[in-house]
Amino acid sequence: MLEGYHCLTLTHREAPLETIGQLVLRNDADRTPELVLQQLKTRFDWEEVFYLATCNRVLFFYYQAVPAKGVEPATLVALLRPDLPAQKQAETASYIRQINGGEAIQHLLEVASSMDSLVIGEREVIRQMREAFEQSRDWGLTGDHLRLLMRFTIETAKSVYSQTGIGEKALSVVALAFREMEKHGLHRDQRILLVGAGQTIALVAKFLDKSGFRNTAVFNRSLDKAEAVAEYLGGKAYPLEALASYQQGFDVMIVCTGAANPIITTDLYEQLLAAETGPKTVVDLAVPNNVAKSVVANFPMHYIQIEGLRDAARENLAYREKEREKAAVLIQDKIYEFRQRWHERQVERSMYPIAEAIKAVREKAVSEVFGKDFDQLDPAAQELVHRMLAYMEKKCVAIPMKAVKEIVLHASRERKMQPATDPAKP
Ligand SMILES: NC(=O)c1ccc[n+]([C@@H]2O[C@H](COP(=O)([O-])OP(=O)(O)OC[C@H]3O[C@@H](n4cnc5c(N)ncnc54)[C@H](OP(=O)(O)O)[C@@H]3O)[C@@H](O)[C@H]2O)c1
Repeated sequence: MLEGYHCLTLTHREAPLETIGQLVLRNDADRTPELVLQQLKTRFDWEEVFYLATCNRVLFFYYQAVPAKGVEPATLVALLRPDLPAQKQAETASYIRQINGGEAIQHLLEVASSMDSLVIGEREVIRQMREAFEQSRDWGLTGDHLRLLMRFTIETAKSVYSQTGIGEKALSVVALAFREMEKHGLHRDQRILLVGAGQTIALVAKFLDKSGFRNTAVFNRSLDKAEAVAEYLGGKAYPLEALASYQQGFDVMIVCTGAANPIITTDLYEQLLAAETGPKTVVDLAVPNNVAKSVVANFPMHYIQIEGLRDAARENLAYREKEREKAAVLIQDKIYEFRQRWHERQVERSMYPIAEAIKAVREKAVSEVFGKDFDQLDPAAQELVHRMLAYMEKKCVAIPMKAVKEIVLHASRERKMQPATDPAKP
């Protein structure tokens, strides 16, 4: 039954990210993640286990058919981090939740569908989950129960993304800024000035690269960082002070430095215009702004700044939250579906010995029971008998399998019809 599925989970909802980081398995030479997981599996008698660590969670998902007491979070932490002081161990353990059966499955489906993420709708988690499962499988830690659930989980996450808007509408400031810029008609050959070369501008560079912008000039206080960004984009790098003598004009200026005072002053802006009079697109992602207010007031421009984008990000987040509600309804249906699929799989597995026995009967019929008669047949007749027996063998397995699956399906439907049933309960 689904009661065999269990999960020990530590998430950003309950714990500080630093605490989560403490439970991520480290790749120490004498205590590799594979070794630690094998030890946990043996110690707690888990039949199968898979381990997932992302920047906002750590989870151990395991299967154990026999009724089990569950794992004390304190015991888990003591095994994983014997080096931590007792008080720290106790604090970490207090954030861990043990959930079982249908609730554990629901949790896994929600994690894969990014309904439980720090940034709702972040598709990245599907890839992380698939890779985590494959890693645990390659270490020989998983089996049929987790394989079945993982396949179903990935399918479910994809359905959530395609049937709801949970992953729609950008949330990152850079993505939103790019979208705004596109509204003003970007062309690949436009001249782009980048001022700054920190993390934000590096992200901007990724968007520019993806859209094929190459006509770029990067200005930064430290020239080496400007060079790295310029090389990535196939553009040119300059030290920040070279802005004052830059004569080549621009179409789009994207500014983002940690400077406390405006870098783009009226005089500098006028000089950078190189006597061009048309409106420019100016993007200021810095806090506080790097473009002086007087520049925005006195020159024609499409001005995009972080404060306006934050409002858009909040609106988009609210939209995703709303879509999360739709996803939650879908997940409830999926839990019923998985229960049915799990039972069908158990039927298939229970039929293996019958299938083997029928195969043995077929072989015995040809080699022993009707062996002499069979040997006297010509090759074409022997071939026909083989094909007929293969057909019979297939049907002898398929007919009872179908009958039992129908009984399971019927029972499952009956259960779904009962209004008071909580689908998360196994
Ligand atoms: N990423 C976002 O979504 C986001 C969100 C909110 C706010 N921001 C704002 O973006 C700005 C930069 O963030 P970041 O994440 O890119 O930072 P970062 O990776 O630390 O990079 C800082 C950049 O600013 C330059 N810089 C720092 N102080 C300067 C100064 N006094 N004069 C000239 N240049 C200076 C640095 O030049 P060196 O290379 O020479 O050090 C570097 O290019 C900050 O205002 C931050 O508040 C970004």
